[in-house]
Order: sequence, then structure tokens, then C-alpha cells
Amino acid sequence: MTIILGHILRNNSTAKIATFLRHKGISIRHVTFALALSIALWTLYYNYLSRSDELQLSPENGFYYPPETSKVWSDRALQVKNAFLHAYHGYERYAFPHDELKPLTNESINNFNGWGVTAVDSLDTMLLMGLQEEYKRALPMVRQTNFSLPENFDVPFFETTIRYLGGLLSAYALTKDDTLRARADVLGTLLSPVFKSTSGFPMFSVDTYSDYGGSDNPVGVLAEISSFQLEYAFLGKVTSKKEHVDHATTATKAFAKANLSLSGGMYPTRWDITTGTPTDLQLSAGALADSGHEYTLKQYLLTAKTDKANLEASDIRATTHIINNLLFVSPQRQLLYITDMSAWEDDIEFSHQFEHLACFFPGLLALGVHTLPLDRLDTLGINVTDLFKDLPLKHRKAYEALAHFNLADLHLWAAQGLAQTCYLTYADQPTGLGPETVQMRLGDNNSETPWMEAMQVWRTNGSKGSPPGVGDKRQWVGDFNATTTEEDDSDSDTAADTRDYEIRNHDYYLRPEAVESFYILWRTTGDVRWRHRGWAVFEAIERVTKTPSGYASISNVDTLDPEQSDSMPSYFLAETLKYLYLLFIDEDPVPLDKWVFNTEAHPFPVFQWSTSEKAIYGLL
Ligand SMILES: *[C@@H]1O[C@H](CO)[C@@H](O)[C@H](O)[C@H]1NC(C)=O
Ligand SMILES: *[C@@H]1O[C@H](CO)[C@@H](O)[C@H](O)[C@H]1NC(C)=O
Ligand SMILES: *[C@@H]1O[C@H](CO)[C@@H](O)[C@H](O)[C@H]1NC(C)=O
Ligand SMILES: *[C@@H]1O[C@H](CO)[C@@H](O)[C@H](O)[C@H]1NC(C)=O
Ligand SMILES: *[C@@H]1O[C@H](CO)[C@@H](O)[C@H](O)[C@H]1NC(C)=O
Ligand SMILES: *[C@@H]1O[C@H](CO)[C@@H](O)[C@H](O)[C@H]1NC(C)=O
Ligand SMILES: *[C@@H]1O[C@H](CO)[C@@H](O)[C@H](O)[C@H]1NC(C)=O
Repeated sequence: MTIILGHILRNNSTAKIATFLRHKGISIRHVTFALALSIALWTLYYNYLSRSDELQLSPENGFYYPPETSKVWSDRALQVKNAFLHAYHGYERYAFPHDELKPLTNESINNFNGWGVTAVDSLDTMLLMGLQEEYKRALPMVRQTNFSLPENFDVPFFETTIRYLGGLLSAYALTKDDTLRARADVLGTLLSPVFKSTSGFPMFSVDTYSDYGGSDNPVGVLAEISSFQLEYAFLGKVTSKKEHVDHATTATKAFAKANLSLSGGMYPTRWDITTGTPTDLQLSAGALADSGHEYTLKQYLLTAKTDKANLEASDIRATTHIINNLLFVSPQRQLLYITDMSAWEDDIEFSHQFEHLACFFPGLLALGVHTLPLDRLDTLGINVTDLFKDLPLKHRKAYEALAHFNLADLHLWAAQGLAQTCYLTYADQPTGLGPETVQMRLGDNNSETPWMEAMQVWRTNGSKGSPPGVGDKRQWVGDFNATTTEEDDSDSDTAADTRDYEIRNHDYYLRPEAVESFYILWRTTGDVRWRHRGWAVFEAIERVTKTPSGYASISNVDTLDPEQSDSMPSYFLAETLKYLYLLFIDEDPVPLDKWVFNTEAHPFPVFQWSTSEKAIYGLL
């Protein structure tokens, strides 16, 4: 049929057509019939395929992606490896053995004790990418670093632990090079004066020269006082030293003692490290708190699912509380987001800010779904009713409301919806990169829609279509040129109205959290969209942040002409590029059921305490 019609059209002359038709013995009635049939078929064809036509949208639209071959992905992994080499070679040439490269001026900066943080943070990325030459060049410096600083120089405990101690331990785990274990042991011991607080929670910093836990500030923030348990437990395991293990267990016990009744079982953000009690009721999954929630599940996973205290007391209750209280959907686009709240007595306020830092959370949820029998927690010997029995009635009720759902589904939906919003905050911008913080819009009369409220409506209405906040959404396509300046309020208001959020902090600091979640979602669900979204992010990184000697943070994602700033954080090499690489290679060298990533993306192998270790270290 197409051939005949094509032939007719090419001949472009009615007489010729009539002659042609008669030669073929075709009457007008035949033609009419054929035309009617073809219109019918075409309509059928169009209707049938129109959905898949629509699906042919570009990957950035987040709908459908053409199947990619293994070859395409391995080529993309190679491009990430080349990006790593570009960044690391720039650092080696202009900044080694100092901490970080300043990628615009080619200067260096010592912002993390001056022990070569970029090199140490990058060791395991090199090993995973098979970059032996770079690894060998870094090793002598790592072996010789003097971890003591002159008197009156404070070493920040949290950053030093997650970057240096984590980096050394992970490189040791991948190579079994004893000199690395010895360096980790020295460093872990040097840092240990921070545990001299009466609660056992670490102080902010230590003076490694004078053996003094250097901070007089009695208030510690959650992320900083809890994000060392993986490192010290694993350090204790590989060195067989009780004191390292003790630091981890002391904190776990101190957390377990805290009365979390008012915060619904969730750890608040600020703690008094003298008394070991929370000092406020601010709840967050973003800055100051993030890895505090991450480490409870991960501590359980790292010890081969034996450390139940961390799982019960914190992970299950905290996740439940977050899902019930801190997740909302935006009014128009129905973007699912996580925010933070402050409470004084009964006065509860949500900021409705959504931080890039909180984009690790969907990955953590997906990891939980992948590793825990969420709907059969009794098989782990956990009595969930018991976990919530000490909480005020409203929190118990909220937990019971979850019983209408399959918990694994619920957690995975939350993960997918949140990670999609993280992706959209990238895709919506002319740079293709995501801002540090956005302020979500509220509905009419400043109304807010808690996700679980929307979920209950969806359920009672027959669970039709995707759950609220979860279905595929298009990126924002506005007039980017109209929104290029932060100062121009009228224009950015228009953008905010249609995006459903206003950008609060326009910077992109080369952060990993979004691609970290894409990586975990890809590995745990096999949904290839996460790979495509990660690729879109990587392309934007290449296009916008690359400099002649490395990669630079940028100061405004919402402009066609972004300005680079003179900073390349070590986590860009340790985390962002590592997660992107692991997202694109087919065979995962550090699969999620055998390895646990610390909060700086340093993988440690899952291990079990032996019976004698348990006895010696006083572990249950
Ligand atoms: C920094 O180094 C790169 C690569 O060697 C070079 O192309 C660039 O001009 C240098 N920039 C400055 C400001 O020196
Ligand atoms: C390490 O640095 C400290 C402080 O600067 C110094 O006192 C000590 O002698 C150094 N140790 C070595 C082995 O160089
Ligand atoms: C925990 O705190 C709540 C509220 O302040 C209080 O009612 C409850 O008795 C406390 N529980 C324990 C075990 O101290
Ligand atoms: C779980 O705990 C509740 C109260 O804390 C108790 O009533 C119930 O019997 C327990 N369930 C099981 C299966 O032990
Ligand atoms: C908003 O509040 C006003 C005044 O209280 C009320 O009249 C109006 O119906 C509200 N609008 C919506 C959409 O709830
Ligand atoms: C429930 O579903 C019906 C039909 O699909 C729709 O018209 C109605 O608006 C829904 N109600 C709510 C509260 O979403
Ligand atoms: C936006 O501005 C750029 C550069 O000024 C121009 O090339 C582009 O065509 C403009 N786009 C629109 C949609 O106006």
C-alpha cells in the first residue's frame, strides 16, 4: 500500500494517476476503499504506537530510553574513568601532596589537615577503576604522612574519619596491603582522644599533638557524633584491637539509652555530648543529620546483620517517622520531597526546603528494601509493636496507618519518587546540574500535603495509576533566558511557579548524593532509567564544570552562563566519579550485598564477629 501511494504521489498528475489505475484494473471505488482502509489502519497504527512514539522522547525527559548495549555503557564508564584521570592528574601536577587542587588557578589548598586528602580519598576509586600507575605513585606519600600536627592545630574528627580513615581502610580491604592497615591503626588511635567525653560521643575535634580532645563545645551534631561506627568497628575487626571496637559500641549504647519519645523514635539533630541526650527537637535527613541515619542501617549490614540494636531502635523507627512526617508532595507537579522540621512543645514547623544532601536518602531506602524483610520483620526476631509502644499515641497511630501498605512497596515508591525529584532539580536547570537547596512551593492558603496523607487518599480511591509523587514526570521546559539572574525576582517567580520550587542556594558543589542514589536504585531494581539519568548528570558535569586542570564547583546552576569557582572537593573523586563509574560498568566489583559504603563512598566488606570476638568485645 505504501508503495502504491508513494508511486501516485511521485507522479503528481491526476491524468497520469487515472491512467495508471486503469492499467492496474483499479476503480475509484477500489481507491476509496483502499484510502478508507489505510486511514483506518493508520489511525489504529497511530493510536497503538502513539504511546511508544511519545516514549521516543529524549532521555532527559525521563520517560523512555532506547535499549543500550553493554558496549554503550562500558564506553560511558570509560569516559568517567577519563574524567577521573583528568581530575587526578591535575591534582597530582599542581597540588599533590597537599589536600585539594584549586582547578581555576592551579594552586593547592590544605583544608583537611594537609595530609593529601585528595590522594587518600581517591585510592579505592583508582583500585576499582584499575588505575595501578596512579595508585603506585600515591602510595609512598600515604605511607609516610605524619599524622601529627603541631600543637594548637585541631583535626576535625568527622571529616578526618570519613575521608582519611575510611579511605585507608577501604584501600586496605581491596589490597590487603598491611602498611595501609597500620596507617589506619595509627590514625584511628591518634584521633581517639575525642572519645574522652562523659557520654562516649566524640567531640568535634582533636589536637593530635597534645592528645587533647580539642573542642569545649558540649553540643555535637548527629552526623558528626554518629558517623564513625562503621570505620571503628571495621578498624577493630582488622586490627583485633578492643579499644577501636569499644568506641563504636559505646556510641551505639549511648544512642540506645536516649529517650526518643518526643521525636517519634528518630534521632534529633543536636546532642549534648556530656549527658548523651538530645538538646533539640529538630529533625532532618539533610545537613548535620544525614549520615546519622545512614549509619544505623549500614552498621547492621556491615556486621552481617547481627547488630540488631542499630536496626531496631533507629533505622526502622527513624525511617517510619521520616515517611510519616518529613515527606511531602508539591502542589502542582506532585514532586515528592523530604524536608526538615523544628518543634517546640506542640508547635511544629516544616521548612519545606529540600537539600541536595538529602538526596542520599532514596538510595538508603532502596538499600533497606534490598536487604531487609520489611514485611516480615518478625523473622528477624523483631516485635514491631514493641518498638513503638513507648512512643506517644500519635506516633503509634501513624505507624499503624502504614499497615495498610506493603512496607517494601512503600519504601521503594518513596525511594523512586524522591530520587526522581533529585534528578529533576538537575534536569530542570539550563546547566543540567542540581542546586544545593530549593524551597518547595506550598498549595493554596499555604497548605502542605504530607505524602502519607496523599497515599491514603490514593489507596482509598482504588490505588489507580502511580502513587502520588512516584509516576514519571517531565523536566521543566521554560524560557531559560528569562531566569538567568538571581536578582530578577519577577522572572524567577514565574520559574518557581511552574517548577514548584524556588532555588535557595544556586551552587553546585560537585556533590555525589543524587548519583549515589541512582547507582543504588539501578543495582537494586535493574531499572535502566537510573543509568540514563546518571549519564545526563555526567554529561552536564563534563560540559559545565570541566577546567583545563580538573573540575570546578559552579556558583549558579540556573543560568546559561555559569561561573566556575576555584574548588574541587576530594569527594568528587572519592564519591561522585566512583558512583558514576559503578553505575555504568556491568559487573559490580563491590556488590551491595557484600560491601557497605561509608558516607564518603569507601566500601568495606561485610564481616561477622566470631564467638570469641563477641566475648572479648562484649558484643551480644
Ligand atoms: C592550569 O593547568 C592547565 C593544564 O596544565 C593549563 O592548561 C592552564 O592554563 C593552567 N591554568 C592556569 C591559570 O595557570
Ligand atoms: C610529626 O609532626 C609533629 C608535629 O609537627 C612533630 O613534632 C614530629 O616530630 C613529627 N614526626 C616525625 C616522625 O616527623
Ligand atoms: C521519655 O520522655 C517522655 C517525654 O518527656 C516521658 O513522658 C517519658 O516518661 C520518658 N521515658 C523514660 C523511659 O524516661
Ligand atoms: C509484641 O509486643 C506486644 C506489646 O509490646 C505484645 O502484646 C505482643 O504479644 C508481642 N508479639 C509477639 C509476637 O511477641
Ligand atoms: C483560602 O482561605 C480563604 C479564607 O480563609 C477561604 O475563603 C478560601 O476558601 C481558601 N481557599 C482554599 C482553596 O482553601
Ligand atoms: C477518586 O477517583 C475518582 C475517579 O477516578 C476521581 O474523580 C476523584 O477525584 C478521586 N478522588 C480523590 C479524592 O482523589
Ligand atoms: C538564549 O540566549 C542564548 C544566548 O544569549 C541564545 O543563543 C539563545 O537562542 C536564547 N534562547 C532562547 C530560547 O531565547
